[in-house]
Amino acid sequence: MRVLVIGGGIAGLTIAREFLRRGVTGVSVFEKGALGSEASSAAAGMLAPQAESDADDAFFRFCCVARDFYVGFAEEIENESGIGVELDLEGTLYAAFGESDLRELRQRYEWQRAAGLPIERLTAVETLELEPLISSDVTGSLFFPNDWQVENRQLMKALSKSLRLYNATIYEDTPVRALVFERNSVRGVRTRNGELHEADLIVIATGAWTSLIEADRAGFAIPAVKPVRGQMISYCTPKRNLRRVIYSHRGYLVPRSDGRILAGATVEDTGFEKGVTAEGVSSLKKNAGEIVPQLREMESSEQWSGLRPFASDGLPLIGDVPGCEALYISTGHYRNGILLAPLTAGLIVESILGGERSEYLDCFGPNRASSSAAKA
Ligand code: FAD
Ligand code: GLY
Repeated sequence: MRVLVIGGGIAGLTIAREFLRRGVTGVSVFEKGALGSEASSAAAGMLAPQAESDADDAFFRFCCVARDFYVGFAEEIENESGIGVELDLEGTLYAAFGESDLRELRQRYEWQRAAGLPIERLTAVETLELEPLISSDVTGSLFFPNDWQVENRQLMKALSKSLRLYNATIYEDTPVRALVFERNSVRGVRTRNGELHEADLIVIATGAWTSLIEADRAGFAIPAVKPVRGQMISYCTPKRNLRRVIYSHRGYLVPRSDGRILAGATVEDTGFEKGVTAEGVSSLKKNAGEIVPQLREMESSEQWSGLRPFASDGLPLIGDVPGCEALYISTGHYRNGILLAPLTAGLIVESILGGERSEYLDCFGPNRASSSAAKA
């Protein structure tokens, strides 16, 4: 079977790898730039549904399953590639600064306790005992022992190496311009230089750029996705001095094992405009300094941005594309693509190769009735 994956971010690479590890040999990946160079490397690598979700709905449950899936996935990809991906199980602290934050944390604590999730409520003193660098303005926190982080840039290197070891055919600097159809089915893709590449099955994993692919066939449309920019900065410290990810309504700090602290992130509707702005960086610095005052004295060492793929209802778009045979999609992962992609890859490929069809593909498939149904 000739499988053609468009897009070399975490969504595309995990899907390509899933086909290969299940014995499908003719897998190719088309990437407009370099593998893993877009949102998947820009991300903070948090695997943190309990800190990031506001309600116990289908999406939250899906995120929790995806998080639990990571332990086995990280071990497998490290063994396969020989590259460490630094899955870090230290947990996440959600810090409150003031009364209204405390109220919001109390609610979060209550619905998560009711849902039977591991969560601890800490006083300000207990918070500072765990993380002495947090500002003394802290008024309390929640500790999520199972909200983790992964070094997503390392993960992209590991996935790329794994694909090469499996002998995938990789086309970098090769933008796909259009899908080519034959009757009810997709027949292949046309690249920007006009070449036709035929395939038996195509997976669209083009992140924020999905809506730019041409699909000239009456009555058919690729599901719409738009970019949402996130700017990030990082600080270099000589050794790791925060143990856990620190989340707050001001933003988040992610400490890496080499001493870097990532501070993120903006959420901006600026089209395909990538890049950092003085305003964005200054707000990230201000927020980081409010969480950990020592950072006020430091210059950031790196600044970058990425484009999150956002579907019209903010939920993932995963599974078979209605109205066209042999065409699948994995995008719209928005703020959770690092978390969700390994699990979604397994679910999509399992359903294609004739295994069990997960209920999540109905919840988050492009054919879902409406966002409220997906959230029910
Ligand atoms: P991408 O990584 O963008 O990959 C899509 C690829 O497709 C790109 O490489 C692109 O070049 C290629 N492509 C596009 N069009 C074409 C074409 N026509 N032909 C060929 N190739 C094409 N998620 C988390 O889970 N945890 C986090 O902590 C987190 N933090 C984030 C912080 C920031 C600042 C940002 C921006 C995102 C963050 N995310 C996080 C979200 C996460 O990064 C994304 O959801 C995820 O990376 C999306 O993966 P993807 O493969 O769909 O997209
Ligand atoms: N999930 C973190 C972000 O998207 O900024």
